[in-house]
This record gives sequence, structure tokens and C-alpha cells, in this order.
Amino acid sequence: MSIKTIADVDLSKKTVLVRVDFNVPLESGRITDNSRIRAALPTIDYLIKRSAKVILLSHLGRPKGQKNLKYSLRPTAQELSRLLGSSVLFVEDCLAADAQKTIVEMEYGSVMMLENLRFYAEEEENNEEFAKKLAAYGNAYVNDAFGTAHRAHASTAGITHMLPIKVAGFLMQKELEFLGNRTANPERPFTVILGGAKVSDKIGVIDALLDKCDNMLIGGAMAYTFHLAQGKQVGNSLVEKDRVADATAALQKASQKGVKILLPTDSIGTNTLNFEMRTIGHTKTFSEDIPAGWQGVDIGPKTIEIFSEIIGKSKTIFWNGPMGIFEITACAEGTFAIAKAVAQSDGTSIVGGGDSITAINKSGFSSRIDFMSTGGGASLEFLEGKKMPGVTALDHKSM
Ligand code: 3PG
Repeated sequence: MSIKTIADVDLSKKTVLVRVDFNVPLESGRITDNSRIRAALPTIDYLIKRSAKVILLSHLGRPKGQKNLKYSLRPTAQELSRLLGSSVLFVEDCLAADAQKTIVEMEYGSVMMLENLRFYAEEEENNEEFAKKLAAYGNAYVNDAFGTAHRAHASTAGITHMLPIKVAGFLMQKELEFLGNRTANPERPFTVILGGAKVSDKIGVIDALLDKCDNMLIGGAMAYTFHLAQGKQVGNSLVEKDRVADATAALQKASQKGVKILLPTDSIGTNTLNFEMRTIGHTKTFSEDIPAGWQGVDIGPKTIEIFSEIIGKSKTIFWNGPMGIFEITACAEGTFAIAKAVAQSDGTSIVGGGDSITAINKSGFSSRIDFMSTGGGASLEFLEGKKMPGVTALDHKSM
């Protein structure tokens, strides 16, 4: 990747606008997962040490251009301050009349956070005037918001045309390295594990990764759409009938390319499920065919064994999506077993997607994972090979 990073330019004593993705989950104003804030610390620390004035820009949620304090970034500024061990200034409106004055008066080597950019519709509209106003706050731009790099918004795209320096932060660099280079030129065998409910969410990634990987292990409800494509019985399992053709095409592509697609050889099924209440009825282990009246909710023990063995022999592993309804304890064994297998493998392990990361964190093995992507939609679009407006707009190294 030939994008310039903060290590390639001199940002000391500059006023640096840093686009971060602090779109973190909140429950009653409390951050339930601070991973995205922690992931931005290396860049923020680096700039503090270079005595830059650090101005953080972010969005949180989808407030649709309205000021709605439910989506205030204040809790993230407080959390950042706790993690840094120093105070973080918070400006309550990203276009506040006194924002400029506060920036001029703030000390070098200190950090300020502006309120949610999406309180203005102009952010998502990539409005030029709005981008200009933000750009006027600083004299260099750093994009460390990989999770938002697939959006062409004012703070990720428009602003880059208005500042002389526009480079990637360390998190952005790491995301591009692991999701880009390490999967494009993987150490082999390269095993991709995909789960989740829908083939429709993942078909682009399945197609793109079939060009790169040696094994593709498919779990989660989307496996049942593949089973349907193979003419198996899926009982009452969640399937996307309109995606059976996509599953068939993926199976054909895999066989042409010599890629092994492995589907569950057994499943845990239940006769009733109430997701809201997190309850299920009786459970049984079924081989590939699931009879009417039963619904597959997790991969079975044989599948865990087969998948874990392949993972253990792999040199590069990419995992996105749970193997079952892991929010319900009785259907979580497959997902946690895969989390353990990925963590224990000696290969380079890359995990993306909120659910897989939650499973890894809960399993207690997170320190053994080489890289956990902060991107949701962005990771998938990047792996699909789509252009990322927030990346292409940055300065490139001359070859
Ligand atoms: C994410 O959480 O995926 C990013 O922050 C992007 O958010 P968005 O999908 O609301 O643009």
C-alpha cells in the first residue's frame, strides 16, 4: 500500500485534524465496548509526543442531521481522557462560534474533540462549505477512521482537498496491511471462516475471497442456504431462498478454483426459538439434513472438530461472523470453539465484524489474535475490492 502515513510527514507543532471512528456502542450513555477508542490511541499518542494540537473529528450513530444528545460524543471524549490519563477538551458543536478561538488557545500536545459531525446533514452530503469550515481548524489531516473509510463524507473525502497534508494514521495503516496485503499475499494455507445469518450480506466477500483462499468454512444460518443449494433438507432453519443461486454459483466457483468450501456436517437444532427472550426449546444434534419442525441454531460437535483441525493447520486465517445464535448460551458453543481454535492457531489470525470480536473478547483469547479489525461494513467492502473514498483521497508515496 503506497499511502503516506503520519510517520512519513513532520507533524510536530502542527494543528492536526484527526478523523477517528468513535462510533462505539452505548447503553444508557455508557460505552459498552471501547475497542475503537483504544485502537486510535497509538496515533493520538504519537501526535501528542510531537507536540501537535490534536483535533478529533468523528460521528456516532445515525442522528440524520439533527442535534440529538443521545448520539453525543461526550462519553467518548471522557473515555479517551481516562485512557490517556490527561484531559480532553470537548467542543459542544463542531461549528461552534468559539471553536477556532479554543483551538488557538489550546496548548500544543493537547487533545480536543468536536461534537458529532452528523448533527449536521452536510457531513453525510459531503458538503463543500461544511468541509471547508472543518478544514479551517487545522493545517494537516490524518485519517485513522478505517471503519468510516467506505463513506464519501465531508470529514473523510471533501476535507482532503482542502489541506496540504493528508495521511493515514497507524490504525488505518494496520487495517490496510492486515485486510489488504496479508490476505492478498497470504501465507498458505489461507482459511476463511464466514458466518452470520445472511448469504446476501456476505456474497461479495465470498466471491472475492474465493480468489485468494485455500479453504472456506461456512457456518451460521447462511450455511443452510448453501445446504439448500446442495439439495439438503433444512427444516425450519433460516434461509434466503432468493440467494440459493448465489450459493450454487459460489460452490461452482470454488470447485473450479480448487478451493475447499466446507459446510457443517452436523448442526444443533431446536424445535422452538424466542430470540427476544433468549430461549429455545428442546435441542438435538442432526447430521446434514434437518427435518421439518426443527431449526439449525449452531454448528455441531463433528463440525467443530473438522473446522478446528483445518484452522489449526492454517498459516493465515480470516474470520467474520458467528457460527450460531451465540447470544443464546445453548447455541454459542460453536462460535466460542471457533474463537478458541483461531486464537490457538500459530497462523496469522485476522478477525473482523462485531459479533466475532465480541466472541473473541468473551472467550478471553483476544491477546492471541494478531489483528482485530475495527471496521464493520468497511472491512467487508474493502475485502470485496471496492474503492474506499477515505483511503484513495490520502497522499500517496511517489514510486
Ligand atoms: C460503522 O460502525 O460501521 C461505521 O462507523 C460507519 O457507520 P455508518 O454505517 O453509520 O456509516
